[in-house]
Amino acid sequence: MSQTHLKVKIGPLELKNPVLAASGTFGYGQEYADLIDLNLLGGIVIKGLSIKPMSGNPPPRIVETPCGMLNSIGLANVGLEAFLKEKLPWLRKLNTAVIVNIYGHSTDEYGAVSAGLRGIEGISAIEVNISCPNVETGGMAFGTDPDVAAKVTEEVLKNTDKPVIVKLSPNVTDITAVAKAVEKAGAHGLSLINTLTGMAIDIDTRSPRLANISGGLSGPAIRPVALYMVREVVKVVRIPVIGIGGIINYQDALEFLIAGARAVQVGTANFVNPRATLDIVEGLRKYCEDRKIASIDEIIGSLKGNTQPGE
Ligand SMILES: Cc1cc2nc3c(=O)[nH]c(=O)nc-3n(C[C@H](O)[C@H](O)[C@H](O)COP(=O)(O)O)c2cc1C
Repeated sequence: MSQTHLKVKIGPLELKNPVLAASGTFGYGQEYADLIDLNLLGGIVIKGLSIKPMSGNPPPRIVETPCGMLNSIGLANVGLEAFLKEKLPWLRKLNTAVIVNIYGHSTDEYGAVSAGLRGIEGISAIEVNISCPNVETGGMAFGTDPDVAAKVTEEVLKNTDKPVIVKLSPNVTDITAVAKAVEKAGAHGLSLINTLTGMAIDIDTRSPRLANISGGLSGPAIRPVALYMVREVVKVVRIPVIGIGGIINYQDALEFLIAGARAVQVGTANFVNPRATLDIVEGLRKYCEDRKIASIDEIIGSLKGNTQPGE
């Protein structure tokens, strides 16, 4: 049987296949090590890292919703110092890309986390989460303003020696405006989408189901929205795009690749099926082999039909 090449490039970053585990749904990798062979993944994106440790929001912080879930974890994480000391030495031994998702409450904090990771071995790239609140602008998310998103991107680039992927928020009027601003600022790649803001109410207590009132919606419920946004962004930027949102099987992953994503991330599906990422890698390989497709590159951006605005 022919051997299909699943290798892809995200700017300077080379992945052995286009399937990554999404930030916040895969811990620091080690949590899944007894369940799957992590070396078979394209990469792992670790839980959002901040300069200081964060305990996150009070519980309940997860609610199941139709075809998805709401979370208001509040970006709980071990902080930069403990990550470098306690998590990275283990991650470094893996034969897969390790992407560190970072965030801050101010532009300076993004710069500080990036600087703290500079020159450190075993980190393949930085993914910048711009969906979190900016304390400098009264809590408006960095990713909702193209100029602010560009400023954060520049700050990270100034402080790092790693490829920089900026993760876009879908909670905006025009995601293409943010994508273009971030590309112009010098990002090596984009990933999208982060969760969509939502809420749920308990009708007996008449209280919000999440202690934080609102949270981020993820899972298959958001997939069509994510796919649409990926395609809109792919049409207007030249840098590679990673598709995220509700991917649970290889067919879903293929939709994003055909739409033009160079890779995909799998999040909520890991909670239902810890093997989801590997099942998707195998499914992609088989799909290509059955159709005598020599390289996954032949699939990427192969969408047919009208691609004009206003279709
Ligand atoms: C419990 C949970 C925690 C998350 N934490 C982060 C995070 O720390 N940083 C980040 O950029 N995205 C985070 N996300 C967003 C996911 O990485 C992903 O963008 C989103 O869930 C959509 O993909 P999915 O439908 O496959 O889950 C989190 C999602 C979930 C469900």
